[in-house]
Amino acid sequence: MRVLLVGGGGREHALALGLAADPLTERLVAAPGNPGIAAVAELRAAEVASPEAVAALAVECAADLVVVGPEAPLVAGVADAVRAKGIACFGPSGAAAQLEGSKAFAKDVMAAAGVPTAGSRVCATQAEAERALDEFGAPYVVKNDGLAAGKGVVVTGDRDAALAHAEACGRVVIEEYLDGPEVSLFVVTDGEAAVPLMPAQDFKRVGDGDTGPNTGGMGAYAPLDWAPAGLVDEVMRDVAHPTLAEMRRRGTPFAGLLYIGLALTKAGPRVIEFNARFGDPETQVVLALLETPLAGLLHAAATGTLAKHPPLRWRPGAAVTVVLASQGYPTSARSGDVITGAERAGIIHAGTARRASDGALVSAGGRVLCGTATGPDLASARAAAYALVDGVTLEGAHRRSDIALAAVEGRVRVP
Ligand code: AMP
Ligand code: GLY
Repeated sequence: MRVLLVGGGGREHALALGLAADPLTERLVAAPGNPGIAAVAELRAAEVASPEAVAALAVECAADLVVVGPEAPLVAGVADAVRAKGIACFGPSGAAAQLEGSKAFAKDVMAAAGVPTAGSRVCATQAEAERALDEFGAPYVVKNDGLAAGKGVVVTGDRDAALAHAEACGRVVIEEYLDGPEVSLFVVTDGEAAVPLMPAQDFKRVGDGDTGPNTGGMGAYAPLDWAPAGLVDEVMRDVAHPTLAEMRRRGTPFAGLLYIGLALTKAGPRVIEFNARFGDPETQVVLALLETPLAGLLHAAATGTLAKHPPLRWRPGAAVTVVLASQGYPTSARSGDVITGAERAGIIHAGTARRASDGALVSAGGRVLCGTATGPDLASARAAAYALVDGVTLEGAHRRSDIALAAVEGRVRVP
């Protein structure tokens, strides 16, 4: 099978490793890829948010399967353009990707499907925003309605800061605060059949102890030993299947990866958000533990044959990934600094590049790379992931020091 992978972040590096390891994969091309992906795939420059450009590249590579990593190309309709050429594509249509592309759309689908989520109001004016903030009270949760690379959400006790974010965004969703540990559950689906992967936990805030602004994600681990038994079955029954049924009913079936972000509250699991693609950096840990070959699984989802796919197999043990971010992230991101010590298995590249003048590895974005390791238990995987990331030098870089720590110490509590 010839596979074209679209994207060039840490998630795509993890996907590339999984796709390349599948004996079904004869050729792997990545656009645009990154220096880490270059070790396992041919890289092609392409305007990945352009449906025409990606479809043309898929034809040129004679791809049997296109896997779209990031949300922007999906929302732009890349999967539709690829399928229009008769090529199987793992990723939802532009219409179905609105589950991620618009928070207001996602809330509407959840309401119609009876999916448990935070109460919310869509607000287009300051007066509406003020009313909603006072209705739900502090802590305030204000979300930009559109795509914002994980940085469109402000959670704050400061009403003025909440109002300022609403004003800066224009149209926002203001919602009830959900209290409880967060879980990311990835569901592979062909629109009808749905297969859950292993739940993982992400660390969204930039600072230790969940302080500072939201980021794209600073680290992750799996499995979640503290999660209630039956959680995955409950979420498949109450969230995934009703959502997929509602999307079919609307004539826009969702096929690809449904990312369900949950808070485990006192009242039970509540959806925080949907994404229309694999999460980053949770993918790094989930795929490190997945034994089932990845290309075959994604191809089954892309061709409507997931119901016939054999049950997933998982490696024993645990996986942890720790993100190294560039100076200033997430407010700004310094690029062009030399990176050393990254030539190790388990270093997953995100915002890296080769310097044109001498081929040196340099930073090129906010989340630069991550150290991903497995181990027989969470404590050993965590120690190995920190050893990996701490072997890398990058001026001004920062990382969290508490990824997976509460879980190792048995301090995660579901209310
Ligand atoms: P989102 O982009 O919707 O995932 O929001 C980013 C992050 O903001 C989430 O991972 C949560 O940590 C936090 N967040 C979002 N919505 C809520 C909510 N209703 N209650 C508490 N925290 C939230
Ligand atoms: N890790 C959060 C996300 O991918 O949106």
